[in-house]
Amino acid sequence: MTKNPIYCAIDTSCIDDADRIINEIAPHIGGVKLGLEFFTSCGIKGIEKIAKYKLPLFIDLKLYDIPNTVKKTLENILSYNPTYTTLHVSGGSHMLKECVNLKKELNSNTNLIGVTMLTSFDNESINEIGISGTVNKNVKNLSALAFDCGMDGIVCSPMEIRKVKETFGSKLKIVVPGIRNQTDNADDQKRTLSAKKAIEFGADIIVVGRPITSAASPRNAAEIFHQSIK
Ligand code: C5P
Repeated sequence: MTKNPIYCAIDTSCIDDADRIINEIAPHIGGVKLGLEFFTSCGIKGIEKIAKYKLPLFIDLKLYDIPNTVKKTLENILSYNPTYTTLHVSGGSHMLKECVNLKKELNSNTNLIGVTMLTSFDNESINEIGISGTVNKNVKNLSALAFDCGMDGIVCSPMEIRKVKETFGSKLKIVVPGIRNQTDNADDQKRTLSAKKAIEFGADIIVVGRPITSAASPRNAAEIFHQSIK
């Protein structure tokens, strides 16, 4: 494996904590994922500060709104030139196509990644919000929609990687959170797997947050994850 596929989710509200952790783990990760918690407290200035590490950036704001709002928001995000950014596939084909067209118009290299089913969902909890069928079936349908609309990839849990890979091969990048080694706490993730297995199954990018950021030594934890997939 040439490129390190580990993106560390820096889910913190404190820019100094983010800075300290990234400084420690930079040699062992392939990129940094900044999400809602970071963005709503550290803002654009925070993103600019983290960009100084020159690590690939994954801006993960999981956009979900009417097509016009998502398109305008995406335009702002693309100006930071992240390697990856996310939209909810359940925003629908109109929203997704507007975003894919915008990416083309701007000649952007950012990978547009569609969130299928959050990894904190299981079969019971999706029924609770009125979605019928299984998580698997919904991931399959939403991946097909993302592909048809011209998205670059999707987010799914480790449990669905093989099915998505089987259907789309390398035509859709697979981004996988919910990564846990055997001794890690699952936290609120319901569909987890080790980094090694996720890569074996066909994940292109794995997202690891708390097992690294909440470890006694984030540097050691990141190094262990990195070694485990070499
Ligand atoms: O701490 P942990 O490893 O569980 O972090 C997982 C990260 O991946 C979080 O930042 C979360 O927002 C993100 N994520 C997820 N499930 C998705 C999409 C993104 O857990 N479907």
